[in-house]
Amino acid sequence: MDRFATRTAVYIILKKDDKFLMFRRKNTGWYDGFYNLPCGHIDGRETLIEAAIRETKEEVGVDIKEKNLQFVHLVHRRSDGNDGYFEYTEAYFAVDKWSGKPQITEVEHGEALEWFDINELPKNTLPYTREALINIKNKSLYSQAGWKKNFKISLIAAIGKNRELGKNNQLLWNLPEDLKHFKEKTLGQSCIMGQRTFDSIGKPLPGRLNVVLSQDPKFKPKGVVVCNSIEQALARASNYCDEVFIIGGASIYAQFIDRADKLYLTLVDSDFDADVYFPEYNKFKMIKDGKQQISNELKFKFTEWERKK
Ligand SMILES: NC(=O)c1ccc[n+]([C@@H]2O[C@H](COP(=O)([O-])OP(=O)(O)OC[C@H]3O[C@@H](n4cnc5c(N)ncnc54)[C@H](OP(=O)(O)O)[C@@H]3O)[C@@H](O)[C@H]2O)c1
Repeated sequence: MDRFATRTAVYIILKKDDKFLMFRRKNTGWYDGFYNLPCGHIDGRETLIEAAIRETKEEVGVDIKEKNLQFVHLVHRRSDGNDGYFEYTEAYFAVDKWSGKPQITEVEHGEALEWFDINELPKNTLPYTREALINIKNKSLYSQAGWKKNFKISLIAAIGKNRELGKNNQLLWNLPEDLKHFKEKTLGQSCIMGQRTFDSIGKPLPGRLNVVLSQDPKFKPKGVVVCNSIEQALARASNYCDEVFIIGGASIYAQFIDRADKLYLTLVDSDFDADVYFPEYNKFKMIKDGKQQISNELKFKFTEWERKK
């Protein structure tokens, strides 16, 4: 068996009272819109301690001393990204003394610096950082991320009375409540979509891993994972999350419906002129029937369905 070179990174838990510091990633092309700790790769010939001190200064502008750094956790992580397959060893250090006022120094790549309680982590915390933080709370020294295989496949869609989905690569209605519901369900998880749906949204959905299916080798937008088969898309999407959301469009729902565990369907109570439709879903039974609502003169309700046994 060949020896395998892993990448090494450090994560820094800056602690104040019972809280610690995280900020939201932006414009990095990897998990943008997710909260994470100050962190970074070690540079050549640098020790973990040196990297932790340097990264803390570079990312949040504060000075820490070696004697105040305490090693608290190690993560072994798989990463099957656009740039290939890698494994990481990630050392977590806690520190409760520093000088200077924390601030985001790389403003083009970070925003919303905040102190968080471990019991109130935002949904869009980077999944493997969340797992490590919870394990640290439970006094465990080690986590592994990206190796597990159990996850649920859920389709989420809004459909008309005849399962209408869209026309001319657009939605058929304007329902802000449905967009809010979609965000609440999918935030912090992975979303798989077709190239046309990605095109109609126009940008990656923040706070979610965006996996886009396309056969086009020239299709390489920033901030998304591009896959050319549903197997590859599922492997990539499920890497760190428990629930993979299939968010359309019609061709993608049709390919995933036989593998879905759950459906989140917003039922819009009207007929529409459409050119794409949601597949038949008579193998599912309704488990949640939300109350009827009205918006923009349209009646709709949120429902949830599970595969019949
Ligand atoms: N109502 C809702 O909840 C909802 C949700 C989402 C979308 N929509 C609507 O659905 C419509 C879009 O649906 P659509 O069926 O036309 O397009 P789509 O499913 O979003 O995208 C189709 C494209 O995905 C790629 N693709 C599909 N299967 C693939 C596979 N197995 N491997 C690799 N690539 C694959 C291909 O891209 P390449 O051509 O690049 O190879 C294909 O052209 C729009 O009207 C949209 O508004 C509605």
